[in-house]
Amino acid sequence: MGGLDRTAAVVLVGGQGSRLRPLTASTPKPMLPTAGVPFIGHLLSRIAAAGIRRVVLGTSYRAEVFSSYLGDGSSFGLQLDCVPEPEPLGTGGGIRHAADALEDDYDEIMVFNGDILSGVDLGAVVDEHRAASADATLHLVRVPDPTAFGCVPTDDSGRVERFLEKTLNPPTDQVNAGCYVFRREVVNAIPTGRAVSVERETFPGLLDRGARLQGHVESSYWLDLGTPAAFVRGCADLVQGIAPTSALPGPVGTALLLEGAKIAGSASLSDGTTLGREVVVGDGSRVIGSVVMDGARIGDNVTVTRSVIGPGAVIGDETVVNDAVVGDGVSVGAGCELREGVRLWPGITIPDGGLRFSGSA
Ligand code: GTP
Repeated sequence: MGGLDRTAAVVLVGGQGSRLRPLTASTPKPMLPTAGVPFIGHLLSRIAAAGIRRVVLGTSYRAEVFSSYLGDGSSFGLQLDCVPEPEPLGTGGGIRHAADALEDDYDEIMVFNGDILSGVDLGAVVDEHRAASADATLHLVRVPDPTAFGCVPTDDSGRVERFLEKTLNPPTDQVNAGCYVFRREVVNAIPTGRAVSVERETFPGLLDRGARLQGHVESSYWLDLGTPAAFVRGCADLVQGIAPTSALPGPVGTALLLEGAKIAGSASLSDGTTLGREVVVGDGSRVIGSVVMDGARIGDNVTVTRSVIGPGAVIGDETVVNDAVVGDGVSVGAGCELREGVRLWPGITIPDGGLRFSGSA
């Protein structure tokens, strides 16, 4: 139903990514390397593939990192601007602030949270928005466990009925997937100059005022990369072709090795592991479903499972790392055990000698 030449995209990338610390201490979440490229690269490749050409990134936390990587967007086939906020404006305020940078040609705005990996057909969301003559349309995804999310019930025509906070007995498995289409006038009505939450203020306010809010309900691949466990899983799904992207810098497979990565003949990589540039993996080591960032070194007979090893980190021989995050430049000695939820902050040193650390997930 029509093209997307009058649809512009706003991508929200201003959050602090606190749940992903310490990885986000130096790099904003949408710029973390996921399957070999900054996450935003996967998202922009999907936006471009859908036929959207005009994109504004709403930045706040570490804004400069985005503009130096993305430039004017031409390498993605996009016309892109990064618009820094004077202070963090929240999701709704961020949408309004970014949209103010758009030319008048665009009467529809498609908004993306910059940390969602999804296989939704973007054109189908816009088609439903137009067919329903909606003021705003939300991508709603069906999830197996909706108790962890606010739910969004819809009626038989797809019209949103309510916005519900997290509850133990949700009446529906449909949750807000962090992707919306707005009529431009609706965005223009979001207040300026203060923080506004689109989820808590804009959408419920629109519903109270009788606006037509549509839900585009489906169940394709969807993952919010906000936690270390989700981040690791998203990377592994991209590497293995389970999550959709056209920005993978190599063939789909059980592992992705970037330039200069070296593994000993007796080492093994599996379950969608990524080895960054110049990573070294020693004899007898196994790296399973993990992300090992540029320049990290893994010794001999090490097992790394569902973990992130930050850039330049060193893991000593015989060490076990399970469901953990090892920050930039950390040095972990030989014979250590890091398990479930351990996070080591950048630059610290753990001595040899079998020290055991456990944390809460
Ligand atoms: P946590 O601190 O771990 O909750 O992560 P986050 O800061 O990214 O927050 P959250 O996941 O709730 O944010 C959803 C999306 O909105 C992400 O893409 C954020 O980058 C973005 N976002 C959150 N707050 C702001 C803001 O004040 N300004 C802008 N431009 N984007 C924001």
